[in-house]
Amino acid sequence: MGKFITFEGIEGCGKSTQIQLLAEWLTSIGKSVVLTREPGGTELGEQIRALLKGGCAGEIFSSKAELLLFEASRAQHVEGKILPALARGDDVLCDRFFDSSIVYQGVARKIFRADVAFLNNFATDGLLPDLTIIVDITPEESVERLLKRGDQLDRIERESVKFFGDVRNGYLSIAEGDPRFLLVEGNQNVSDIQDEIRKEYGARFM
Ligand SMILES: Nc1ncnc2c1ncn2[C@@H]1O[C@H](COP(=O)(O)OP(=O)(O)OP(=O)(O)O)[C@@H](O)[C@H]1O
Ligand SMILES: [Mg+2]
Repeated sequence: MGKFITFEGIEGCGKSTQIQLLAEWLTSIGKSVVLTREPGGTELGEQIRALLKGGCAGEIFSSKAELLLFEASRAQHVEGKILPALARGDDVLCDRFFDSSIVYQGVARKIFRADVAFLNNFATDGLLPDLTIIVDITPEESVERLLKRGDQLDRIERESVKFFGDVRNGYLSIAEGDPRFLLVEGNQNVSDIQDEIRKEYGARFM
């Protein structure tokens, strides 16, 4: 079985930057790597992603409907892409996974935690990442980076600093005392963050 590694953190923390660099390194040392993301990763998942990011003609999504869309994308992803890749022996690097639902839908949108946990487990059949990297930045830094990027903000990125603060605190609290997580300070150089991540991969899996 390959290793299953997920990346988490608030908007703009550097997940996509770091996952790409890790994929490049693993490939360069001869590993087969599947780089994927949530929501998305499959045809169905990418269509759900477009709905979640773009919204539907401005209609406010019910928090439960939103959660179920994430879980539908996740179920398709686990069964159709992640499990087959791990079984082939590939490492799977996934930009967000079920921890995002715990903190965004559970902590920040205040859906009952046990319901989110149940649906996560249902969608994944209990698949757990071997390692989850949380890249931690403050909500103020997040907003600064999103504005600097200059793109139009999507439906979730338009949430308030308070919302991102809740999400960040949610991540910090799930990481505490759980060895599945590596918490890295995201307000360092891109390459320093990447060094920490590679070191952790080496220590755990090589
Ligand atoms: N360590 C860093 N220091 C400063 N800026 C960074 C750092 N890492 C990434 N950035 C910049 O911050 C922005 C967000 O980075 P990136 O897209 O990797 O984050 P993300 O977590 O994937 O964001 P999103 O949640 O929106 O997908 C980009 O403009 C990127 O160049
Ligand atoms: Mg990203």
